[in-house]
Amino acid sequence: MLTTRRTFVSVIFFILFLSLPRPSFSQSPPSNSVYNSFLKCFSERTKTPQTQIAKNVFSQSNPGYSSVLRAYIRNARFNTSSTPKPTIIVTPRSYSHVSAAVICSKPLNFVLKIRSGGHDYDGLSYISDKPFFILDMSNLRNVSVDIADQSAWISAGATLGEVYYRIWEKSKIHGFPAGVCPTVGVGGHISGGGYGNMLRKFGLSVDNLIDAKIVDVNGRILDRKSMGEDLFWAISGGGGGSFGVVLGYKIKLVPVPSVVTVFRVEQYMNSGAVDMVHKWQSVGPKTDPNLFMRMLIQPVTRKKVKTVRASVVALFLGRANDVVSLLSKEFPELALKKENCTEMSWLQSALWWDNHVNATQTDPKVFLDRNLDTSSFGKRKSDYVATEIPRAGIESLFKKMIELGKIGLVFNPYGGKMAEIPVNATPFPHRKKLFKIQYSVNWKESSPELEKGFLNQAKVLHSFMTGFVSKKPRSAYLNYRDVDIGVNDHGENSYKEGKVYGKKYFGKNFDRLVKIKTVVDPGNFFRNEQSIPTLPIAKRTVVPEPGIARRLLGAKGATAVATASLRRWSYTSSRLVDCFLVCFVLNH
Ligand SMILES: Cc1cc2nc3c(=O)[nH]c(=O)nc-3n(C[C@H](O)[C@H](O)[C@H](O)COP(=O)(O)OP(=O)(O)OC[C@H]3O[C@@H](n4cnc5c(N)ncnc54)[C@H](O)[C@@H]3O)c2cc1C
Ligand SMILES: *[C@@H]1O[C@H](CO)[C@@H](O)[C@H](O)[C@H]1NC(C)=O
Ligand SMILES: *[C@@H]1O[C@H](CO)[C@@H](O)[C@H](O)[C@H]1NC(C)=O
Ligand SMILES: *[C@@H]1O[C@H](CO)[C@@H](O)[C@H](O)[C@H]1NC(C)=O
Ligand SMILES: *[C@@H]1O[C@H](CO)[C@@H](O)[C@H](O)[C@H]1NC(C)=O
Repeated sequence: MLTTRRTFVSVIFFILFLSLPRPSFSQSPPSNSVYNSFLKCFSERTKTPQTQIAKNVFSQSNPGYSSVLRAYIRNARFNTSSTPKPTIIVTPRSYSHVSAAVICSKPLNFVLKIRSGGHDYDGLSYISDKPFFILDMSNLRNVSVDIADQSAWISAGATLGEVYYRIWEKSKIHGFPAGVCPTVGVGGHISGGGYGNMLRKFGLSVDNLIDAKIVDVNGRILDRKSMGEDLFWAISGGGGGSFGVVLGYKIKLVPVPSVVTVFRVEQYMNSGAVDMVHKWQSVGPKTDPNLFMRMLIQPVTRKKVKTVRASVVALFLGRANDVVSLLSKEFPELALKKENCTEMSWLQSALWWDNHVNATQTDPKVFLDRNLDTSSFGKRKSDYVATEIPRAGIESLFKKMIELGKIGLVFNPYGGKMAEIPVNATPFPHRKKLFKIQYSVNWKESSPELEKGFLNQAKVLHSFMTGFVSKKPRSAYLNYRDVDIGVNDHGENSYKEGKVYGKKYFGKNFDRLVKIKTVVDPGNFFRNEQSIPTLPIAKRTVVPEPGIARRLLGAKGATAVATASLRRWSYTSSRLVDCFLVCFVLNH
């Protein structure tokens, strides 16, 4: 713990700020001069000629800029001419490139956005309203699977589809519990928690980590041992982009049966859907942990009548006969028959969940397809439910959804392994909930009018649900990024602003994340609209773990004398406040 006091060593941190005059944004030099100084620094750091480096550092005038930018835009809302664009995009090909990108962008006073798979629902990995660069990790994508060790190293720029495929290549009875969309990136997904259809059996992706590598604010490459348990904990669900650049994770593979079962059952509002959804709440989160039954609720028009369709989409880690007999007892309302079930391999089930209807006839190589530069428009929000919604509540919800017309809901059941893991084991706090709600709306047409309407539907339905969902704080899942729940301007009120969304995403774990952030990145270099803030200056007499202090200073028992007075703790557009930690090791 950060607050541990050792009797023989106590470390007091004094914080000293030097306000260095910097050009403000309005006075900032033309971007080609930013590009040139970045390129020069990057080339020196990596000991590579500038001509060669230019293949991995793109200014806006580079002919490749636009396709590199668009390749990993996954939401067409942020693919318009008015979407803010980065001054530079860096596409590192080695760890030392990542290191250099951090070191070389720091003095330039640009925000560094980190992008792996680009699936951030509100585009935070590739847009910003402040001048910014993008560090695009997509070239760092290797995955190496070690079946004997039941583990794999997966790089930040790999996709989940690639991870699943590489595991399957080597073993038909191993898998990994992560998301159901194969183009999602490892970097954002795992640093933000990561869940999929095996979470009731194995927990989240972050419950199955062994090691990690990051580049910290000083450009150092650290693994679990050298970063320490606090920082490792923070990047196991506390969100990418607050603590450093994740290079990759070492994951623990999990055993999967050679045959699994999938099924989908649908009902409509006037023929059983209300009862099915109502009953689902008491079965989905409590049944056999081998069974994951997602509930999709969608307003539709059927035979010219507006209604609601409820669909159960399921994965069972076992045979069809067993799940049919289990559910005939626990969930007769579902009327599941063996004919509704399909048996297949685990990898085929991942294809099926990715909407390959004929999964058993689909070439698994489609998981290596990155589908570059394609996306529809979309918006997501989230909530958690801790007590069952009464039948009348579900009925009123269906009516509301018909009235709104487009937005749908996805209920993801928890329970099983999820409920067994302590709330503070990782930054992800929503362990004891019955289920998570995702609010989901997608559309194809580019129209500001339509967009306004759909974004509003999401807000209206979220507000309608207030009485049914967790409160104090109302909670949310970080990987379902939602800027409606609060953003940070990183000015004087940064901590206060951060607490608003931070408590929703992390509950009681927020405070520990802030302490770690304050130690590892006191100058708040790694920031985005919803990153973890540093502690306000008044609260900064932190007594950190001696190990962290030493690593930070790079020297044992360092003694230094602070000579300057404390300056304003704020970022303004006209100056960068650099922060120095000066450490006195007493009674050593
Ligand atoms: C179609 C779709 C399906 C999804 N399905 C699931 C699902 O089944 N389960 C689930 O849990 N989530 C799901 N998600 C959400 C997804 O997990 C998050 O959006 C996740 O953050 C995406 O990771 P990314 O690397 O693709 O995104 P990015 O947009 O690249 O990054 C997301 C965030 O992480 C930061 N980040 C990215 N890479 C790094 C890095 N290397 N180091 C530090 N910070 C980094 C970014 O700066 C940004 O803040 C889905 C999203 C989409 C669009
Ligand atoms: C990725 O590949 C590089 C070069 O082949 C290798 O040095 C590195 O160890 C690999 N990383 C992982 C995570 O497997
Ligand atoms: C399930 O199978 C039965 C029997 O074949 C069939 O009548 C029913 O329509 C199926 N249900 C679904 C949702 O496919
Ligand atoms: C799935 O397979 C069936 C039978 O082989 C075929 O008729 C159908 O067109 C296929 N569907 C898709 C979406 O490929
Ligand atoms: C972005 O827009 C262009 C057209 O301007 C289109 O060709 C491209 O597919 C779009 N990409 C995404 C990711 O929406």
